[in-house]
Order: sequence, then C-alpha cells, then structure tokens
Amino acid sequence: MNRQRRQVWLWVGALLALAVLAACTLTPVANAPVWQEDELRVLRTLSLDALKPLPPDPSNVVADDPAAAALGERIFFDARFSGNGAVSCASCHMPEHHFTDGRPFGVGMGVIPLNAMTLVGASYSPWQTWNGKADSQWAQALHPLEHPLEQGGNRTLYAHLLAAHYAGDYAALFGPLPDLADATRFPRNAGPVDDVAASLAWEQMSFADQNAINRVFANLGKTLAAYERTLLPQPARFDRYVASLDADGRAQGASLLSDDEIAGLRIFIGKGKCIHCHNGPRFTNDAFHNTAIPGAPDVPLQRGRIDGIARVQSDIFNCLGPYSDAAPEACTGLRFMVTTGDTLLGGMKTPTLRNVAETGPYMHTGQFATLAAVIEHYNSGGFAVQGHNELEPLNLAAQEATQLEAFLYTLTEETPN
Ligand code: HEC
Ligand code: HEC
Repeated sequence: MNRQRRQVWLWVGALLALAVLAACTLTPVANAPVWQEDELRVLRTLSLDALKPLPPDPSNVVADDPAAAALGERIFFDARFSGNGAVSCASCHMPEHHFTDGRPFGVGMGVIPLNAMTLVGASYSPWQTWNGKADSQWAQALHPLEHPLEQGGNRTLYAHLLAAHYAGDYAALFGPLPDLADATRFPRNAGPVDDVAASLAWEQMSFADQNAINRVFANLGKTLAAYERTLLPQPARFDRYVASLDADGRAQGASLLSDDEIAGLRIFIGKGKCIHCHNGPRFTNDAFHNTAIPGAPDVPLQRGRIDGIARVQSDIFNCLGPYSDAAPEACTGLRFMVTTGDTLLGGMKTPTLRNVAETGPYMHTGQFATLAAVIEHYNSGGFAVQGHNELEPLNLAAQEATQLEAFLYTLTEETPN
C-alpha cells in the first residue's frame, strides 16, 4: 500500500517537473533574443549592407565609364548583333527574370545545353560562367557573340555592325574604328568560328588586320561589361529583417520574417551547412564545388572547372593577353588561380541565391525545376557522377526542408534593378 502510494507521488512529481521544463523551453520569455551574438554576426555578413563597393576591373579602362555603359546597354538589347539578326544578350538574360530566361537551356540561334545565369551582381565575381572559363565580363561577352548556338556571329561582322550603327559612340570612347570599306581586307564574315567560310576568311586576313578586328571585338565586350556592372543586387525582405535586429538579436517592431522563415534561416546558417558555400551578401563564395549534380538527360556531362581552367588560360582575351588594359601584376586572379585539387572535375561556380525563387530552373543544366527539388538533393547528399562529391546527407525533417525553402523566398529583391 505504502509503496504504491510512494510510486504515485513519484510519477506525479516527475510529470510536474517535465511540465515545468516544457513550459520553460516552449513558451519564449517575452522579448527573448532570437539570435545569439555569433549568429547575429553571421547574419550581418549576409546582408546587402555588408556588400563592398564593386572592385575596379583594371583589364577594362571603360569599366566605370557611364558612356560605355550606355553604349553597352543598347548593344545588350540589340538583336542585330547576331548571325541571324534575331538574338541579343537579352534573349537569354531578360530583365523581367532577373536577367535569366526561365528555361532550363539557353535558346539563341540554337539551343545551348547550359542554364542562363543571372547577371545581377555577377560583376563582383572574379570568374564568369558555371566553369569560370572567362576571367572578366568583357572576355565572357565575346563567347556568346561567336557561339554558333547563341548569337552565332563573328568578330568581323560585329566590327561592321558597330561601324554601321554605333560608329560615333564607339569613336568617342575608343577612337575611330578602322576603315572597313575594303571588303578583301575585311570581309563581312570572318572570325575563328565553327562556320567554315568565316573561319577560312579569317585565316586569309593579315595578322595586322586580325589584330585590329580583335581590338574592336574586345572593346565591344568592354562596353557590355560596363553595362553589366550597373546590374547590382537590390535589398530584399531578408536585408530589412537583418537591419531591424538590435544588438541583442531582437527584431525591432513586428518581425519581417515569419517563424518558419526564421527557422529556415537558422537551418541555412547551421544544420544545412548552406553557408559553407553560399556566403557573403551575394550568397556565394565565387568558388568552384562539386555538389554531385546529376547530368541532364541527352546532353553531354559538363566537366566543370577543370575545362574552365584550360579555356581561360588559353584565351587571348584574358587579363594577361594583348587586349587587356591591366598591368600583368594586376591580374592576380589569373596568376594565382587554383589549378589543382580534387574538386575541379565536376566543380561548378557557386551561384548567387539572391532572387533565387524567381530564377528557376536550377543548376548548370537546369536539372531541378523547383527549390524543393534542390533541397531534396542537398538533403540526400547526392551521388557524384564524376569527381569528388563535397556534400553529406543532411537528414532534415520534411518540415525543416519546407522551412529552408521558405527562407530562400525572402531573398527576392523588392524593387528590381
Ligand atoms: C542563347 C542564350 C544566351 C545568350 C544569347 C547570351 N547568354 Fe549569357 N549565358 C547563357 C548561358 C547558358 C550561360 C552559362 C554559360 C556557361 O556556363 O558556359 C550564360 C552566362 C553568362 C554570364 C556569366 C555570369 C556569371 O555569374 O558567371 C554572363 C556575364 C553573361 N552570360 C553575359 C552575356 C552577355 C553580355 C551576352 C550578350 C553578348 C550574353 N550573355 C548572351 C546564355 C546566353
Ligand atoms: C559545397 C558547396 C555548397 C554547399 C554546401 C551548398 N551549395 Fe548550393 N550550390 C553550390 C554549387 C556549386 C551550385 C551549382 C551546382 C551546379 O549547377 O552544378 C549550387 C546551386 C544551388 C542552387 C541553385 C541556384 C541556381 O541559380 O541554379 C540553390 C537554390 C542552392 N545551391 C541552395 C543551397 C542550399 C539551400 C544549401 C544548403 C542546404 C546549399 N545550396 C549548399 C554549392 C553549394
């Protein structure tokens, strides 16, 4: 009898203790800080307020010249600058889609089996494209102009187009264009491109004439880059939320993020390890990582950074090349480029996550249609189809995955550029 009663009291006591404990942990004390000091410091590094001024591009003398940006903007939207007169940069980089195209693959003169990247904030990145095959935006711009599946033209054609439509603006920036009237010296179509006739015509040009055309081509790229440097990220709800946090990690006024979004942010900087690669105010470390993204069906597997390195080293339009305005010692990116390591094979550039909710489909060949599918991939840890997979399974519960996704929606800028 006595023993039974003692047992009952013991149970009651234990239950009471549990209830008190639960009450303490579940009901937040009024105005409890949401973020600890170290977490708060991390959040501030992600805010746009932490974005440094755009670093200069010594390889491009007109990088910050407003007249160059204005000319570059007109050419960016000018479909005459293509092999068929119908494709411009904006065909795949549409302002209304944060300078992406909403499609898995870029569609120009053909279909290029790569996903068009956002240009918002891209001028901060030392390497351009998924595998970083260009070390500046002006050098990068020259690739789609001559790629048969993108704008499909050639450098001599572009020189002729500049002469026909923008000779005055060009001359004001770079001095007069070469006299292109002599069609035997400067055929309409010539360049080191896939098109056999244009390629042959290029080989028959003198070295001096090729050099003159290369210089015009590089300058064309430099105006486009000057325009791209004006496409800077704009504040999102996330930035206003971080700005609203006081020194104790409490939101001033009504919280700008919901409980789920805050929980998702906590996973982003913690358990989800997203911040290892998506860090800083643009949510990217600008580095190359193998995240075991499966290949897209029916297109060749991209080898990633390993190919980008070879391409940028051999590019005559790189920072150390004859068309760069930089002193060689200013080309630190290229000179100190990482060229060894087990993540180069299959390594892709970490993309920015600003505006990510509106820039799907995702990954270098648009393999994932939704953010939920992206998070599912990270949660499983993936399986490397080539090279070394840097991910590990995260074991997020279904609710945590949804919260992480909800957080990503808070990175959409409120007033686009
Ligand atoms: C047919 C579609 C298409 C056209 C036209 C096009 N692009 Fe792209 N753009 C892409 C694709 C696809 C990628 C990714 C390419 C890669 O990884 O090799 C890309 C990547 C880029 C990047 C790299 C961004 C980064 O963060 O690394 C820049 C910059 C860029 N394009 C600028 C331009 C400019 C300037 C033009 C016009 C001269 C242009 N693009 C024309 C589809 C296109
Ligand atoms: C090891 C570095 C690394 C980590 C950790 C990482 N990412 Fe990524 N992320 C990348 C790279 C690299 C890509 C591009 C991969 C590709 O296209 O092949 C990418 C692509 C993405 C994309 C697609 C963006 C686009 O424009 O296509 C999203 C969304 C994304 N990551 C979210 C996350 C989230 C959420 C986490 C945490 C669960 C995370 N990432 C963790 C490196 C990383």
